[in-house]
Amino acid sequence: MATSSPAPVRFLTGITTSGTPHLGNYVGSVRHSVRFSRQAHVQSFYFLADYHALIKVDEPARIQRSTLEIAATWLACGLDPERVTFYRQSDITEIPELTWLLTCVTAKGVLNRAHAYKASMDKNIARGEDPDADVNAGLFMYPVLMGADILMFNAHRVPVGRDQVQHIEMARDMAQRFNHLYGEHFTLPEAEIDDAVATLPGLDGRKMSKSYDNTIPLFTPRAQLQKLIAGIVTDSRAPGEPKDTEGSALFQIYQAFADGDETAALRRAYADGIAWGDAKQLLFERIDREVAPMREHYDALLNDPAQIEGILVAGAEKARELSRPFMAGLRHAVGLRNLGSQDKAAVRKAAKAARPSFKQYREKDGLFYFKLLDANGTQLLQSVGFASPQEAGRAIGTLRQQGAQALTLLAAQLEPIDNEGVRAATAALQALAAEAASGS
Ligand code: TRP
Repeated sequence: MATSSPAPVRFLTGITTSGTPHLGNYVGSVRHSVRFSRQAHVQSFYFLADYHALIKVDEPARIQRSTLEIAATWLACGLDPERVTFYRQSDITEIPELTWLLTCVTAKGVLNRAHAYKASMDKNIARGEDPDADVNAGLFMYPVLMGADILMFNAHRVPVGRDQVQHIEMARDMAQRFNHLYGEHFTLPEAEIDDAVATLPGLDGRKMSKSYDNTIPLFTPRAQLQKLIAGIVTDSRAPGEPKDTEGSALFQIYQAFADGDETAALRRAYADGIAWGDAKQLLFERIDREVAPMREHYDALLNDPAQIEGILVAGAEKARELSRPFMAGLRHAVGLRNLGSQDKAAVRKAAKAARPSFKQYREKDGLFYFKLLDANGTQLLQSVGFASPQEAGRAIGTLRQQGAQALTLLAAQLEPIDNEGVRAATAALQALAAEAASGS
């Protein structure tokens, strides 16, 4: 028997197009993802999350520029658009469509607890402002849009930073809820975190992040890279004094680029009292060694935006070969269907489920009763008590056969109803008669 290769694992991740890629993005996401995408059993979906960018950026030129820079970054870092599915979120029109379906299976209370939204609220509360001041609904809905990104392509693994883990859990919940209601459509995704390099410190020692304004752009020119590295915080220890690697942003950044031997060598240099200026030079050279060839490629790509556009359009077409039929199936599953090609049995079943019905029962007084309920279970008619179930059954038979006429005929055996009640009961009896006539 031939040995079968393992089933492909689908990886999917997005980068919000709201800024210029920095070393933190490279170390925490891009590098890892590109490496992964080369493995034989891996199918990768990498995309530019430009809808997500609209939540926090209202400068169109910045969105466009960032989309270009991020796309160029992935390509320069070795992403092969033939091997992976590389696309722009807003080219996949099925994503906002799926977002709505997921919105309808997501508890609002769960979104209330999303970290990003809560952080904004907490900030407002601390300032004594209205909790929702300056919070747009996009921020609130952020996890649902992200859920649609992930579930649309049935990703197994989602490489993200720790701050995004909650969003993956929410996507799982949406998938489970949807599957429960409408059948098994979605794969349950899992977050994938590379603990060793999940976060990189920035210039000030806090996590490298655009919101802290402490980043080093990945493809900043060589001279600028050197200048920025010179600005990384250190303590005030003089040359010759032993230095702590613990808590040293410089050391952590170095470690993210260096191999084990190089890291061990810098550790020894710290203990031996290397001057901060020399340590910074080592860091600069180490990063530049890795980045320089990619920087060249990046600059060439930025000068040819039409080439990138072509790659993204082709990627979107590849992605939509999956998303179009998948979305069609989801629309059908929830009942957004072509009325001209109905499944007859399903329609009959639905009609049956929605028809009025008689209920017979016995009360504590020993007598036999019946009522007529509409499709929603609301009571339309209530009988008086009969001595035997046969008598009750005969009255029901009369109502079934003679419809509205029988209401007058049987007036003495029914609890009184008002005009509105007569109308409702008449409609229900007519529906039952029509159904009996059609023989279903
Ligand atoms: N929220 C992610 C971030 O800010 C970007 C993103 C959008 C994403 N959709 C996604 C990441 C789907 C992984 C999967 O980093």
